[in-house]
Amino acid sequence: MLRTRLENFARKAKEHLEDRYRAWRGSSPPAPVTPAETVAPAEPPAPPKQIRWELRSQAELVNHIEQHFHAGLRRDLPLLIDAARAVERAHAAHASVPAGLADHLEELFAQLDSHMLKEEQILFPTLRTGARGGPIDMPIRMMEREHDDHDAGLATIRTLTADLVAPPDAPPAWQNLYAGLSTLETDLRQHIYLENNVLFARALGGEY
Ligand SMILES: [Fe+2]
Ligand SMILES: [Fe+2]
Repeated sequence: MLRTRLENFARKAKEHLEDRYRAWRGSSPPAPVTPAETVAPAEPPAPPKQIRWELRSQAELVNHIEQHFHAGLRRDLPLLIDAARAVERAHAAHASVPAGLADHLEELFAQLDSHMLKEEQILFPTLRTGARGGPIDMPIRMMEREHDDHDAGLATIRTLTADLVAPPDAPPAWQNLYAGLSTLETDLRQHIYLENNVLFARALGGEY
């Protein structure tokens, strides 16, 4: 009797487990946790390493200036001139139109291109050799004076563009033009800083 009751209990228990198993198989199993969810969020990318140009050779610095800043100006400024002309034409009646901006950028580009050619053809080949003082003083002083002219050119861009702030109703093309000019300004200031304060200062026998 007891044996029969135990056998019935075992059979029912087995059936119950089989029912649970079938119910489990038929239902949607919980979504597996992917390894990606178990790992900590990725660290933000490290900022680009700041190159300490005062520790690099004159030749390395000259190469960087030519390949990064000079090439960048020749690539980007003509595009900005075209964009400025298009904005001036499309919004000629707008109260905030940057009238005269394209002509000013053209003049600035001519000035910069002539300046860069003098650096590339006359001064930089000498500086690449690590030359200091003496005959290179005069060309360096001339380049520094021209940097002051570039600085004035950047100031004029800000005057013509209300400090590079597009009006609230400006379309994307207008906003993009000012964003591009802001990048140009930052790059040109870095460019001038590296030449005046590192490259030229070292060649003139300063502390670098
Ligand atoms: Fe330069
Ligand atoms: Fe320069």
